[in-house]
Amino acid sequence: MSAGRTAADPVGGGRDITASTVVLAIETSCDETAAAVVMGGNDVLSSIVSSQVEIHARFGGVVPEVASRAHLEALVPVVRAAVDGAGIDTHRIDAVAATAGPGLVGALLVGVSAAKSLALAWDKPFVAVNHLEAHLYAGLLDDPTLEFPLVVLLVSGGHTMIVEMRGHGEYEVLGRTLDDAAGEAYDKVARFLELGYPGGPLVDRLAAEGDPDSVAFPRAMLREGLDVSFSGLKTAVINHVRANPDVSDADVAASFQAAVVDVLCAKTIRAAEQTGARGIVLGGGVAANSALRAQMAARGSAAGFRVALPSREMCTDNAAMIAAAAWHRLAVDGPSPLDCGAHPNLRLAPVPRSDRNPGGQR
Ligand code: KG4
Ligand code: ZN
Repeated sequence: MSAGRTAADPVGGGRDITASTVVLAIETSCDETAAAVVMGGNDVLSSIVSSQVEIHARFGGVVPEVASRAHLEALVPVVRAAVDGAGIDTHRIDAVAATAGPGLVGALLVGVSAAKSLALAWDKPFVAVNHLEAHLYAGLLDDPTLEFPLVVLLVSGGHTMIVEMRGHGEYEVLGRTLDDAAGEAYDKVARFLELGYPGGPLVDRLAAEGDPDSVAFPRAMLREGLDVSFSGLKTAVINHVRANPDVSDADVAASFQAAVVDVLCAKTIRAAEQTGARGIVLGGGVAANSALRAQMAARGSAAGFRVALPSREMCTDNAAMIAAAAWHRLAVDGPSPLDCGAHPNLRLAPVPRSDRNPGGQR
């Protein structure tokens, strides 16, 4: 147990990974082409994100083939902007990291291949990073003084999980969604209300104009365990609007959001109480949600927890979080082998050490 350790404490055997170790990271798991340069695991020298949202908006969702091609086009300028923005010579880069999964396989391969090529060309280590592990680092990037154990609510478009983080690389998933991810529920409700894509920020904005108490939408499993479920809520929204065609969209959005946020806050605080966490951290795209941030801050503090709300830029997909996770992974495990590929269904665990040695997976 690592209570009292802060995120800034050295980890593993050292392996010459220090506060001045510089990592260039690349993130291409979905529809954001991102690159960042981070020193010492938390000093963000540059972070560039090029969004494909406009490209996919006309299809109402991410088209994998289109995403891969767009990553290929954007990657070189994005990496160049990150290196230029960091104001350092490429000789100062000590390692090159990329998201190896989970995500769209074609999109992942663009970033992994580019990172390996740069690592080979510069004769530097390559680090394969788990995107979910990286999301856990958003809070620690903003505030390295946070102390373990932490409970992290990771809410994104593809995942919703409550994770106990006991130290670097020491995680336990305490709860997860049984069906839709929180972001997926937001996106589906937005599509039904014909708000546009991506739905989360649009529902968030519309909800600000509505009454969150106007419709009593269900809070599934509110009092049971740490898992969550959002597909019944999505169906309840659809049924309510069909039965009440004149209902205000803003009231529906606000009431839907109130139900999501109520469940997420209740379960996260319960997890923190059960594990004796020293803090609560938000991560993932839905952690940019204004109601979730406000309520988690208020309810978490009222329950006696330090609540870390990473900046919205760190919550949504970015490469600074990949670099932060890579720095710790390097310190604990060392570099990844160059035969490491893309892992579209990777779970919250270290990336397999080698694709030629799946038995070596941990
Ligand atoms: O972490 P992320 O950028 O990408 C994934 O790894 O999935 O999360 C994207 C998700 C989308 O579903 C998007 O609608 C949601 O995060 N999102 C939000 C907000 N901003 C982004 N959901 C609710 N409120 C927001 N303000
Ligand atoms: Zn993500």
